Formats: sequence, structure tokens, C-alpha cells
Amino acid sequence: MTEILVLAGSLRRDSYNRRLARCAIDWIRTHTPATCREVDLAQYPMPLYDADLETSRGIPETVVQLAEVFARADGVIFACPEYNASITPLLKNTIDWLSRVKRDDGSFVAFAGKSAALLSASPGGLGGMRGLVHVTQILSAMQVLVLPQQLAVARAHEAFDADGHLAEPVTRERLHAVLEKFLKLVTAIDHLS
Ligand SMILES: Cc1cc2nc3c(=O)[nH]c(=O)nc-3n(C[C@H](O)[C@H](O)[C@H](O)COP(=O)(O)O)c2cc1C
Repeated sequence: MTEILVLAGSLRRDSYNRRLARCAIDWIRTHTPATCREVDLAQYPMPLYDADLETSRGIPETVVQLAEVFARADGVIFACPEYNASITPLLKNTIDWLSRVKRDDGSFVAFAGKSAALLSASPGGLGGMRGLVHVTQILSAMQVLVLPQQLAVARAHEAFDADGHLAEPVTRERLHAVLEKFLKLVTAIDHLS
């Protein structure tokens, strides 16, 4: 059974990216046989990465737990807010900590053999697409295969209806197209390995 993780790189209570993440979860659960699990980063609090802290206290238990959650999944969907044209500190810190959890052969527990799809939502006109360039680069360095098709939802404060669904049919269709491609990619890689 294919397992997909979906997470938002924001802790904000009314996060647009969490809303977008949940739209993705709803569609995957309704339209595919894949198991879809939402990861709430608030459940995995981590200190700001500090090599001295790692040396003195080791890798935090929350990091090891999250790495194991990633390891069990076939693919991860990241809904990424854009801060100053880049990745949020929450997401970067999470990826940095996860990159410290390695197998005996040196491979990344969280990222080895993983594929990712990237989404973003922002009240701005570009929808956070500039940040996705950096997230793509960082995940690629973790040897994650990042789906080239991505979705950036602009004017996010107007993009969702009261139930949290994407209001515009065209935006819904774009999301579904990305998710369909991603599920195909994950399934194809699963067959190869
Ligand atoms: C420090 C900071 C920098 C930001 N920089 C950008 C930016 O470069 N581009 C953009 O579209 N929005 C930017 N924003 C606005 C965010 O897109 C907005 O806060 C959004 O709601 C964050 O996503 P969330 O709703 O999922 O938390 C920035 C917000 C903060 C707090």
C-alpha cells in the first residue's frame, strides 16, 4: 500500500498552507487507494539546529520519531509558505535536523528513495513560487526526487471557501493534476525498487 505524508511548513493556526495540504489529503483519500497521513510539525517540536547541542545531547527524540515516520512513507507532499522569497525557518530547521539521522551506510533515514511534491500558498500574487525553487534545491541535495509540476496558490486569503476547499475550479484542477502526476511517480518508483 502506497503511503503519502502531507505536511505544511507553517505552525500558524489559520495557515493557508495547511488548508492547501488538507485539500491534497482530501483528494488523495477520495480518488486513490493510497494511505495519506497528515504530519503536524507542532507535534514534533525541535530546537534550532546547533551542532554543539547535537554533540552534547544527541539528536532530539522528536527528530528521530519524525525520521521514522518519513522512512515508512513512499512520498511526501510539502505545502510551503514563502518567507522573503525562500523557505520558512520551520521547514529548513526540520530538514536540517532530519538530515542528521543516517543509516549505517550513510543514507538519510528520512529521505532515502523518497519522492516529493511541492505546493505553496501565499496572499501575494506569486503564490510563494519563489520559495519552492529553494525547497526544490534543498530536497534535491537530500537525494529526494522532486516532481517538476508544482502548484503555487496566489491570493490565498481569497482562494479558499468557508469549508476550506479551493474556491476556483481551475485551481482545484491544477492541484489534482499535480497530485495525479505525483501518485504516478511514486507508484512507478515503487515498481522499480
Ligand atoms: C517573515 C515573513 C516573510 C514573508 N515573505 C513573503 C514572501 O517573500 N512572499 C510571499 O508571498 N509572502 C511572504 N510572506 C507572507 C506569507 O506568505 C504569509 O504570512 C502566509 O500566510 C504564510 O503562510 P501560512 O498562512 O501557511 O502560515 C512573509 C511572511 C513573513 C512572516
